[in-house]
Amino acid sequence: MEIVRTVEALQNIKKKLEGSVGFVPTMGALHSGHLSLIQRAGDENDHTIVSIFLNPTQFLEGEDLESYPKREEADIKICELSGVDILFMPTVDQMYEEDELRISAPARRGYILEGAKRPGHFDGMLQVVMKLLNLSTATRAYFGKKDAQQLALIIQMARSYFFSCEIIPCDIVRDEQGLALSSRNAYLSEEEKYRALSLSRSLKRATKMVMSGEREVGLLISEMMSVLKEVDRIEYIAICDRDLQKLETVESGNTIILVAAWVGETRLIDNIWI
Ligand code: PAJ
Repeated sequence: MEIVRTVEALQNIKKKLEGSVGFVPTMGALHSGHLSLIQRAGDENDHTIVSIFLNPTQFLEGEDLESYPKREEADIKICELSGVDILFMPTVDQMYEEDELRISAPARRGYILEGAKRPGHFDGMLQVVMKLLNLSTATRAYFGKKDAQQLALIIQMARSYFFSCEIIPCDIVRDEQGLALSSRNAYLSEEEKYRALSLSRSLKRATKMVMSGEREVGLLISEMMSVLKEVDRIEYIAICDRDLQKLETVESGNTIILVAAWVGETRLIDNIWI
């Protein structure tokens, strides 16, 4: 595995690669969720590139940029053992210049749900994903459904800016109790981890109700709220179609149920596609 820290070095190495390239962008503190994307990229392509870049422009003032978990050595080992060919770990200076050209998230899809709570977050996310996808010149790029709105916006960007890279949505990886894996789970104490399980339990409860015939969004949401009693604050519960339009009745095969909530000082998100 080659570890590359400059844009120029990445471009030079890329010139020598032949065949398809699978790309997995991350912010590090890798876990089995990231690993599932890396493995899929490896299975479906001749070469795999992973990036680890804690992107400052997608963090708002007062968010956890400074305290975000950093585990460079462990991350390098994980990538090496998973057969990654190129690990791109640039500095902020390599990725950004002064007075940057801006990319704006779309007015509706970018400012609901996560975008309403974290205005500006998706501008920075799309900006860095645009840069990373251009740099990797990947055949396919792999993103988790865990960040459903992020994924929807990246698919939209790829479509409306005519990217040749194919965006591949990947399933959510959970621990044995159901907690969706996230680098931010490292902030949780044991007691908080236990309370955090109510996010996935609320999604499971709603899914069960849908499977037994309930379609009314209002009823599903109030049932979810009763399961979510153990979190400190619910930020939103939403039932949307795949285009993130709010639904009044569940449409099987075209519905995402999303939840965001605080447990202690940690903000968690989870969702399920039904
Ligand atoms: P990060 O949170 O490190 O996540 C990198 C990728 O891993 C994202 O596509 C995310 O959806 C996926 N992922 C995270 N947890 C997962 C889980 N439990 N199961 C499956 N996939 C999971 O998302 C980002 O970084 C950044 O916003 C990034 C796209 C890299 C841009 O900076």
